Amino acid sequence: MQSKWILDQINTLKIEKKINLLDFASGNGRNCIPLSKKNIMVTAIDRDQEKLNKYKNFKNINSICFDLETSVEWPLTKEYYDVIIVVNYLYRPKIKKLINLLKKDGFLFYETFSLGNEKYGSPKNPKFLLKDRELIEIFGEFLLPLSFYDGQMNDEKIAIKQRASFKKGVL
Ligand SMILES: C[S@@+](CC[C@H](N)C(=O)[O-])C[C@H]1O[C@@H](n2cnc3c(N)ncnc32)[C@H](O)[C@@H]1O
Repeated sequence: MQSKWILDQINTLKIEKKINLLDFASGNGRNCIPLSKKNIMVTAIDRDQEKLNKYKNFKNINSICFDLETSVEWPLTKEYYDVIIVVNYLYRPKIKKLINLLKKDGFLFYETFSLGNEKYGSPKNPKFLLKDRELIEIFGEFLLPLSFYDGQMNDEKIAIKQRASFKKGVL
């Protein structure tokens, strides 16, 4: 089931013309497949070809199999995306590179696990858990924060997560 929060964020945008959306670490496509049926051209990137195979031939989805954590330059075009979504993925060393991929006036919607989640399930490793207000600390200097939540989510199962939305504009 797709993230309802991501869907709600996209629904708040008034999409009148085709937009380019990047689903960063897209997994099995649960978030980007439904979005690709709207007026949205999706780039889905993940290192797992088996997952990408399930939706690589969908109209409106360009899937890229790539390891986002090596020193190889990402095969993504700068300032190309109107929207970037990241759900349940965190790799701190390169996270700020997302900013340069967004177009001016573009939106970043980021949802992933935060400290405290270890009490409820995976991930438990602090490497994959956001610290207090960390999404705001990382992006707030460069992007305009629109919303922020850190706490318990009762979606498919109980989890502790941060959800933050940002706009790229003049601060
Ligand atoms: C927990 S899943 C989340 C997938 C999707 N965003 C979702 O919400 O359903 C994390 C995804 O990150 C991908 N991933 C992990 N490390 C990666 C890396 N180094 N490069 C690219 N993708 C990676 C995995 O293959 C997996 O599909």
